[in-house]
Amino acid sequence: MKELINSSVGRKMLVAVTGQFMVLFIIVHVLGNSTLFFGGLNAYALKLHSLPLLVWITRILMGSALAVHVIFSIQVTLENWTSNPDSYAMTKYQRSTFASRNMIWTGAVIGTFLVFHLLHFTFQVINPAFAASANMDALGRPDVTLMVISGFQHFVSSFIYIAAMIALALHLFHGIQSSFQTLGINSERAMPYVTKAGSVASIILFLGYIAIPVIILLGLLKGQ
Ligand code: HEM
Repeated sequence: MKELINSSVGRKMLVAVTGQFMVLFIIVHVLGNSTLFFGGLNAYALKLHSLPLLVWITRILMGSALAVHVIFSIQVTLENWTSNPDSYAMTKYQRSTFASRNMIWTGAVIGTFLVFHLLHFTFQVINPAFAASANMDALGRPDVTLMVISGFQHFVSSFIYIAAMIALALHLFHGIQSSFQTLGINSERAMPYVTKAGSVASIILFLGYIAIPVIILLGLLKGQ
């Protein structure tokens, strides 16, 4: 572990592994959110909260991964900025793109969004009148559906989410393929597939996430 932290390639590997771990959460979360379209979000949220051990293990793992990812990605970026060419492992297949040059900024937007998002839907202090903890549905379950729909009926709130999802898409667009490269999947044969898979995954996740605010803003989903 000490060796990983002390070498710049090791630090990049920690950023890559923690990034991939968080992508798994992002995939599961968008699938969970999509239950909204089938009227199943309240049941899904209730089921999740009936498994506190799973919820807390996920929170601790995710929180630790996020901390490692943020600390070492800032360090790698600072090393890059001080422009010591030997301190950063780039392969000949990496080319500079808008997404790759702005990883630190898209990351900062996602971090800021996460604080807003947790205040909105986990601590439920942004739109308290529609907090799931304060409103039960007809079956007596916390009404997460009402909270989400009323949240996204506000243009500013939806705008914040959509802007953050653009940052997330850009971050993943470069991050997914770069993480595989860092972890050694960087042969001439593999790279075009890795790049394409990363791009397709980030576009699918982007569409999956913005679908909710966009559909609600358009008035196509109004709740009960
Ligand atoms: C339109 C987009 C999104 C919607 C509708 C949404 C919805 C929700 C809801 C309803 C909750 C509360 C679940 C509950 O406690 O019952 C939640 C929690 C959470 N969301 Fe999202 N989310 C979105 C995007 C994201 C993104 C992009 C990320 C990560 C980058 C994210 C990360 C989280 C985290 C970390 C939690 C806290 C989970 C916990 O309680 O431990 N969400 N989200």
